[in-house]
Amino acid sequence: MTLTVTPIQGVGAEITGMDIKALTNGEFEAIREAFADHGVIFLRDQETTEADHIAFAERFGEININRFFAAHPDYPQIAMVAKEPDQTDNIGGGWHTDHSYDFEPALGSVLVARELPKSGGDTKFASMYKAYETLPDDLKEQVDGLKAIHSGKHIFGESASSYYNTSDAGSHEEGTSRIGNADVAEMLRDPIHPVIIRHPLSGKKALYVNPAFTVSFEGESKEESTPLMSKLFAHVFGGNEFHTRFEWKPGSIAMWDNRSTWHWALNDYHGQRRIMHRITIEGCALN
Ligand code: SIN
Repeated sequence: MTLTVTPIQGVGAEITGMDIKALTNGEFEAIREAFADHGVIFLRDQETTEADHIAFAERFGEININRFFAAHPDYPQIAMVAKEPDQTDNIGGGWHTDHSYDFEPALGSVLVARELPKSGGDTKFASMYKAYETLPDDLKEQVDGLKAIHSGKHIFGESASSYYNTSDAGSHEEGTSRIGNADVAEMLRDPIHPVIIRHPLSGKKALYVNPAFTVSFEGESKEESTPLMSKLFAHVFGGNEFHTRFEWKPGSIAMWDNRSTWHWALNDYHGQRRIMHRITIEGCALN
């Protein structure tokens, strides 16, 4: 087997010719490099147990145990991303990036397909490197040096609405549990991150705001922030040339970088079951 990295139109790369259960150090380095360069990597035909999934994720760093998601009953490191046939909401059903509501946003997540609907349930990804590169010059100038406040209180707090609607992305329900407002205020302190970050692994610039969790620019109200923020979001919504739609199959794994991509779990398979296992890896402060 020879490990091969094939870039995909839009965003990401498919990696073939390896088994994540038996990676050499050289193969792992090639995977890490592809992840940093392409923002999301797709692996097919991987037969993995939960322990294999954890071992692969741990090679990238410490695991973040998500404080809002239901955990796997036997493996607390694994967050359950599940939708049952009688449910209408899904998790992640709108453009977002995970954990921007943390002071040290997660490096990325490794999602393994465990039970798939007969059709539907794809995931879309967007490149925030390309979003930055293709931003019109006047917008680049306007956001240069700006910072933004991120929060998850409106998603995870008990007064949260079930949905997070964006102009083009449909519904979004990121969490699976509602938490008392006092507790959520303690758990989420609403960090401020630069709007344009220098990616900690690749050194490349990326746009770092997202419709689910970015609330306003620093020093501005939500209302004052809306005109410019909406232009940034609209630029990504319309950026088909830097989007990729991933069709899951048994044995598929996607690993995305939360600093340089957005993703959106399509909710088009009502009445069917979709069970995914997600492990998120700790990141660092962003500059
Ligand atoms: C997520 O947003 O973490 C879930 C993505 C998916 O289920 O495809």
